Amino acid sequence: MSIDHEFGGQHTEIKLSIVEGYLNAFTIALRSHFKNLWYVDAFAGTGSRTVRTERRGATLVELPIEEAVERRRGSAQIALDVRPEFDFLVFIEKNRNYVAALNDLAARNLQRKVVVAEEDANSALRSLVANNNWKDKRAVVFLDPYGMEVEWSTLQALAATQAIDVWFLFPLAGLFRQATRKLTDIDDHKRGVLTRMFGSNSWEAELYPDGEPDMFGILPERRRELDPRGLERYVQNRLSEIFGAVLKPLALPIDRAPQMFSLFLCISNRTPEAIGLAKRIGNHLLDPKRHLIVRSPAQ
Ligand SMILES: C[S@@+](CC[C@H](N)C(=O)[O-])C[C@H]1O[C@@H](n2cnc3c(N)ncnc32)[C@H](O)[C@@H]1O
Repeated sequence: MSIDHEFGGQHTEIKLSIVEGYLNAFTIALRSHFKNLWYVDAFAGTGSRTVRTERRGATLVELPIEEAVERRRGSAQIALDVRPEFDFLVFIEKNRNYVAALNDLAARNLQRKVVVAEEDANSALRSLVANNNWKDKRAVVFLDPYGMEVEWSTLQALAATQAIDVWFLFPLAGLFRQATRKLTDIDDHKRGVLTRMFGSNSWEAELYPDGEPDMFGILPERRRELDPRGLERYVQNRLSEIFGAVLKPLALPIDRAPQMFSLFLCISNRTPEAIGLAKRIGNHLLDPKRHLIVRSPAQ
């Protein structure tokens, strides 16, 4: 089955190349220490993605570009291609058509242990964590949602395993939209989304602190003063409360504002060895300097 899954842009390339780099380093480093290395793609898509380049006429500094449609690997295919191999791969996806494409991908890889689950990512991850022993395995979970789908209780369950490294493309633009400037603009829907995402309503006091009363004792309107970078730091601090370590994220897209996402690596293991290894690999991959694009005039 050939399903078109068109998404992302340059930041998608960067995100996937970082995750691929980590997966390769992960299985190389841990292969001889663990019999069970798992990969879990909780928002798996189809295994491939369609990239469309629009036709552009020539300009004084650029050659013309013809329209092109290209199929590239998505995260599920990338994980299957990692060597040394993962022993077990779980692809979770809610969209029925995408699940069919993932089943085809699994059928083309019958020699591998692959499970495709047509489920909500949160409930599937929580039951995966609850129904397995995490003492004898190490895993990487990739959370690559479109929006604010990942719930705090899911992150807590992943963190509690002490065996899973989590790559999380955090939807900073989504948070920015839900956490409006004025507290009074947050309706019940937004309130529900924020509370599910952060696990309690503590975000309200933390993001909208009480100001000082004026000379008449009147309190100012409660407002969010944090800009995107401040919100990113807030998210990093919150994640650090439950994970053993959380690396400084990469802001995406890299070459233009506004920031839409923060790519986080969260390490659930608490041992200095595991944290040290993940940091060495992760900090290198997340370094923004590695991803700067230098364009030549006629490119
Ligand atoms: C950005 S795409 C993932 C792309 C994928 N990582 C790749 O590289 O090909 C997000 C995917 O999450 C799926 N999705 C959205 N909400 C979901 C949920 N609650 N549970 C599981 N999958 C969900 C969408 O159908 C979509 O395929």
